[in-house]
Order: sequence, then C-alpha cells, then structure tokens
Amino acid sequence: MIKALLLESIHPNGKESLEAIGAEVTTQSGALDEEELIEALQGVHLLGIRSKTHITQRVIDNAPDLKAIGAYCIGTNQIDLPAASGAGVAVFNAPFSNTRSVVELALAEIIALTRRLTEKDKALHAGRWDKSAQGAHEVRGRVLGIVGYGNIGTQLSVVAEALGMQVIFYDTAEKLALGNAKRMGSLDALLEKADIVTLHVDGRPGNAGMFGAAHFAKMKDGAVFLNLSRGFLVDYAHLRKEIVSERLAGAAVDVFPEEPKSQGDPFDSELRDLPNVILTPHIGGSTQEAQENIGYFVSGKVGDFVQYGATDLSVNLPNLAIDAPRYGTFRFTHLHQNVPGVLANVNNVLSEVGANIEAQMLATFGDLGYVSTDIGSPLTPEALQALHSIEGTIRVRSLNGAH
Ligand SMILES: NC(=O)c1ccc[n+]([C@@H]2O[C@H](COP(=O)([O-])OP(=O)(O)OC[C@H]3O[C@@H](n4cnc5c(N)ncnc54)[C@H](O)[C@@H]3O)[C@@H](O)[C@H]2O)c1
Repeated sequence: MIKALLLESIHPNGKESLEAIGAEVTTQSGALDEEELIEALQGVHLLGIRSKTHITQRVIDNAPDLKAIGAYCIGTNQIDLPAASGAGVAVFNAPFSNTRSVVELALAEIIALTRRLTEKDKALHAGRWDKSAQGAHEVRGRVLGIVGYGNIGTQLSVVAEALGMQVIFYDTAEKLALGNAKRMGSLDALLEKADIVTLHVDGRPGNAGMFGAAHFAKMKDGAVFLNLSRGFLVDYAHLRKEIVSERLAGAAVDVFPEEPKSQGDPFDSELRDLPNVILTPHIGGSTQEAQENIGYFVSGKVGDFVQYGATDLSVNLPNLAIDAPRYGTFRFTHLHQNVPGVLANVNNVLSEVGANIEAQMLATFGDLGYVSTDIGSPLTPEALQALHSIEGTIRVRSLNGAH
C-alpha cells in the first residue's frame, strides 16, 4: 500500500489522483516544521508540499520510506535537492500548469494600459467624470514585443494574434515562430518596433538586471512595459523615471526583487503611486484553474514514479519517460553515481541469475545515472541484494515486489 501525505491545502484533485492509483492519502492544511515532518513521514512514501514546508537534509535522512516529493507549485527552493537526489528521492513540480493564467493576466493588463483604464477607474472612484479618448488606443494592430518566447511567451503570442495584434519576439534560443509572429534578431530591434514590451524570460542568474536604462531608452515614445517574469531582471528605479517623465505611457508589474513573505505584510516599491501603472502581488499564476491543473499534474508525476519508475520532468533525477512494464515482465530501477561500469555490473548480476532483459533504458544527469530494466522473471532477493552491493549504487527499487 502506497502511503501519501499532502500538506498545505493542496487542491483536492491531487488527493483524488493519488487515490485513483490505490494510495492511502492523508491531508493537512498547514505546513510542518522539521521535527513534526520527520515524525509524520515515518511509513510515508509520497510527500506533497507547497512553498512553506522546508525539506532539509535532516528530514531526508530521517525519512527512510520516502520515495518522491511533489512540490505542488513552481519553485523547488524549499527542498534540499542534492539531499533528495543522494537518497534517491525524486522531486517533481508543476512548471507549466499556470501558463495560461499568466497569459490572461498579461493580456488583461495590455488592454487596460493601452486604454488607460486605471486612470479612468481612479478618477471615477474619486468622483471625477473624465470622458476623453486622449491616449486611449485599441490593441488591434498594435505591435506586441515578447521578450522570452518560452511556454508563456508562445501562448501569449497566439492569443494576442487572435486580438489582431502584430507579434514580434526575441529569444536567445532558437525558437519556432507561431502564427504570423516575427522573430527579431536582437532585443534592440524588438524595442525599436514594439508598442508594448512584455518580459517572459526565465530567472537564470545571467538575466539579473538584463533590462535597464539603456533598454528603456530604446523603447518607442508612449510605449508600455510589462514584467510578469522575475523582479530582479529590471531596473524599476529607472522605469519610474520613464513613467514620471511620461516618455512611457504605462507599466504593469507582477514581480519584485524583494517580495513580502506573508499575506498582509507591508509592501513598498519605487513604482507605487504612479499614473497608469498596475501593480499586482505576484499573482500571474494564481488562479483556481492553475491550482487544479497543478493538483492533477504533480500527482500524476509522483504516481507514475512510484508505480513505474518514470522520472520525466523530475527536477533532480535523470529523466526517463517510461510507461507501465509490458504484461509478464518485471521492472526494477537502479539509481547510481554516473561513473563508468555501473550498467555493465547491473547486467552482470542479471546474467549470473539467468534473468533475461526484455527492455532497458538509461538516462544520466550530472553525476547521477538512472536505469530502468524489465526482466522476464521476478527479481530474486539475492539478485536485489547483489544490485544494492554494486559500487556507486544509490537506490534500487523493484517495482513488482520488494522495495
Ligand atoms: N508572475 C507569475 O506568477 C509567474 C508564473 C509563472 C511563471 N512566471 C515566470 O515567467 C517566466 C517565463 O516562464 P516560462 O514558463 O515561459 O519559461 P520558459 O523557460 O518556458 O521560457 C523562458 C524563455 O526565455 C528565453 N530567454 C532566457 N533568457 C533570455 C534573454 N536574456 N533574452 C531573451 N530570451 C531569453 C529562454 O530561451 C526561454 O525560451 C519565468 O521567469 C517564470 O519564473 C511568473
């Protein structure tokens, strides 16, 4: 019986998906501290957390039954990944489940900024009738410049074209242009053409401060700027100057270099109290639909790992996309140090016990190697013991019997 513990009010469909594969699931609304977690993890094979539960080396060392951790969120900073890898515990997250939510917020903001809705709304709430077309535009026909054409950038591209926008994009990697979108050869070329510039690059360290005074200076007069990616990418002090001087017509910012930790905490930014600037508290991906998608997605991943040994999209183990073993075959997985000879030693053990290999797949990632082997007869306890004894072995799992 697979035992799962889901903390931090994970969407109920996360529990349902695990129950569907026969797991016994316990849920808890809050996070647990280190001591409580160690106690709660005895006998638990799958752990589900969000951002508030910290998985330390000590937790991993004291959770011998743990096989997989599902981070029902995007980030995995709260998990000591090397510790998890060292114990053969697979970690999965949900990197794409909130893509659509971010795209829809960006679109809403693009329209709101281009129509100067924020100012009209504020004026009317303040009791002032301000009916004018000054500075208000349709988005149809305007040029949308997407910087970073990944999951979010590409989906925004498709939906923006449906609104009649002309999409141009810049990405440092080779990317296929969708629809009528046009790839720009440089960021500068994009900035010179775009009426709206929106950042959707990833948060790799090299991107810190990637958008500063020189980039704002290249943007068109009256253009608008959006950042829903990462706060540390942009010089917000300079963005303030561009808005105050009215060279840029507006901005929408969802992410900040320093973000408050808890609900209700105070917030400050150089971008507060500016006209036609929309500030949101990192809610680009925060919708009920995204939570639902995350529940299914992560439970599916940890479920496939525990049942079949599949590790595709694991953030810490070599990725192997494998389905259920063929009927009548018996699977075991072997996680090891990525050093020469381990695979040969695994196969020597099988040959010594007369086990026929029906299918075998190997993946490596950094200093880890992971091999899944389907054999024609059940793995004997002696063979399992011999596999454990191979030098460099981290974890062996027999998926049709002993673990
Ligand atoms: N606001 C939110 O709530 C929220 C939610 C989800 C994701 N995000 C953020 O959105 C961003 C994009 O997410 P994604 O899933 O589309 O990521 P992704 O990894 O799929 O795409 C990022 C793209 O940016 C490109 N890129 C990286 N550096 C670049 C540079 N300097 N110039 C041009 N292109 C560059 C990459 O090649 C890649 O194609 C990430 O920073 C992510 O953290 C924010």
